Amino acid sequence: MNPISANSQAVAHVLRCVHCGKVQETADRMFRCTQCSELLEVVYPEWAAAPAEFALRLKEIWRERRGSSLPENASGVWRFRELLPQVERENIVTMSEGNTPLIPLKKTARTLRLPHLLAKHQGMNPTGSFKDTGISAAISMAKAEGFSWVCCASTGNTSASVAAYAARAEMKSIVLLPAGQVAAGKLAQALEYGAHVLQLRTDFDGCLKVLHEVVRKFPAYLLNSLNPYRLEGQKTVAFELMEQLDWKVPDHVIVPGGNLANGSALGKGFTELRDLGLIESLPKISIIQAAGANPLVRSMRENGGRELVRVNAETRATAIRIGNPASWRKAVSVLKNTGGACEEVSENEIAQAKAELGTEGIGCEPASAATLAGLKKLVAAGFVKPAETVVLVLTGHMLKDVDYMKQAPGQNLLGPMEADSDSVIKTLEQIYARH
Ligand code: F0G
Repeated sequence: MNPISANSQAVAHVLRCVHCGKVQETADRMFRCTQCSELLEVVYPEWAAAPAEFALRLKEIWRERRGSSLPENASGVWRFRELLPQVERENIVTMSEGNTPLIPLKKTARTLRLPHLLAKHQGMNPTGSFKDTGISAAISMAKAEGFSWVCCASTGNTSASVAAYAARAEMKSIVLLPAGQVAAGKLAQALEYGAHVLQLRTDFDGCLKVLHEVVRKFPAYLLNSLNPYRLEGQKTVAFELMEQLDWKVPDHVIVPGGNLANGSALGKGFTELRDLGLIESLPKISIIQAAGANPLVRSMRENGGRELVRVNAETRATAIRIGNPASWRKAVSVLKNTGGACEEVSENEIAQAKAELGTEGIGCEPASAATLAGLKKLVAAGFVKPAETVVLVLTGHMLKDVDYMKQAPGQNLLGPMEADSDSVIKTLEQIYARH
């Protein structure tokens, strides 16, 4: 089987091992280092020699593209293509991903006495999660490489995104899901978009292990975040966020952590902007895990992030029910390089945070609400200070996981009751009396 080449289209990037630093131009099907089997990252050696004007002009070029209706300019990923692997126009698979709102959280800000609190709502992507930015980038590489099948293991959102983008690209998709552990909305999406869905009697970590073997024998392109091109798409949220903040770097960006690619991608995006001189400093990037799925928290606590402490993951925030995260080394680097915190939150704290966001009209899935739950702890610990600007990255749309809502306490759902105005008015009078 042909290896996957970094430079098949004369792109100015190479793949570098995040552990031993070996540089390679091609990757095997699992995108692992040929020397030490660790993950790879995309690097752009030519940037070091780029004239200063290159970076200075970028802000202007990106701003101009915002008014354009060309698909590659309307995309919140490909609009930043100077900082991405080069892909021919005809191979770009896009659904105008990115372009997500940055929303002030006024009520929560008042409660936490944190005037500058914002939510970057990645649930507003085409398939309702942040995965779309990464999938757009990686599936475009797959198309350029001539693949017609793509695959992933998933807790749900990646599968929805892979299925949709594969359908757009007229490719076939295979997804491996942990049976009975995927929110209904996500499964429905994968099926709607025509993915071949295999439900395995294991968890996410088990699905990913099986996929390792599948990819060796079956000519399908791997779209999990082991694939470094995924992170190239996902890092663009940092670029978009900086535009939205008029290039003023926030003090804190907080993300939920599962397989740990998202925090890693954000860190990469901000670091590239800093190294190119587009921003002067880095935000502290903090990663929040569910207490029942906390391998990064434990690794940081128990050995300073030198080794991964695997756990048997259990949480109702099924998106982040992961005990053996692939991108842990990248995430540890981001925590260390940006000075971010790594915190865990309980099931109750997640549910409470999700309900609070709901009261200000912001819906998200449980994993996303872990960011607010984590922020509260970081404020209480004095890590986040009142005058600081904080951005919570809300990773998925509320409608992904409506079953979670059904179990939430304190909802205003009444009935069934008689359909006559007397009963309704009587009930309303009781409600008014309580307010
Ligand atoms: N939030 C949501 C809504 C997710 O779906 C995921 C991951 C995460 C946070 C964590 O991001 O893995 O990059 O640390 N979902 C993956 C999936 C694993 O298969 O959809 P991460």
